[in-house]
Amino acid sequence: MRRAIYPGSFDPVTNGHLDIIERGCKLFDEIIIGILVNPEKQPFFTVEERREMLGEVVQDIARGRCDVRVDSFTGLLVNYAVAQQANVIVRGIRAISDYEYELQMALMNRRLEPGIETVFMMPAETYSYVSSRLVKEVFQLGGTISGLVPPLIERRMKEKLIQNRTERGSAGSETDHT
Ligand code: PNS
Repeated sequence: MRRAIYPGSFDPVTNGHLDIIERGCKLFDEIIIGILVNPEKQPFFTVEERREMLGEVVQDIARGRCDVRVDSFTGLLVNYAVAQQANVIVRGIRAISDYEYELQMALMNRRLEPGIETVFMMPAETYSYVSSRLVKEVFQLGGTISGLVPPLIERRMKEKLIQNRTERGSAGSETDHT
């Protein structure tokens, strides 16, 4: 049983992430997508929202070729991998700039847990510049993100933006009345 963890923030999941999962399915029997619960970051989507959305968009990808499970974790990634009995961590590398940070993480993870290997995978060139951070920035500034994320994610981002604006609006009007 070849079980791998594909960890990340996935805020939001992009077509680049999905491309890596699809490729990973050729190498592993099971991929656990581990969403990091990071209390220090203010995310666009909550962990629960990301879990739910990932669950939906990965359904088509596996197509019986491998099992894809969506989960979340706190603390050290290697501890989570051990608890899940996974001995591989998958990370996508888009450019040399990714490599330096990823190499540091991979070597630190190896020092912490020598039994776990990190496997770097390259997404399709089409996605080599796509990151969750840029997707959010472009989207929040009114640019188009279609083709960079699945249509479901694009829809949810629009809904979330409206929800955030409404919440901010009502919070503002509450303040106005005080
Ligand atoms: O999608 P991201 O934000 O690039 O993912 C980064 C992630 C989740 C892989 C990394 O921050 C991580 O593994 N965090 C868990 C805490 C941990 O194990 N830190 C030590 C890493 S060497």
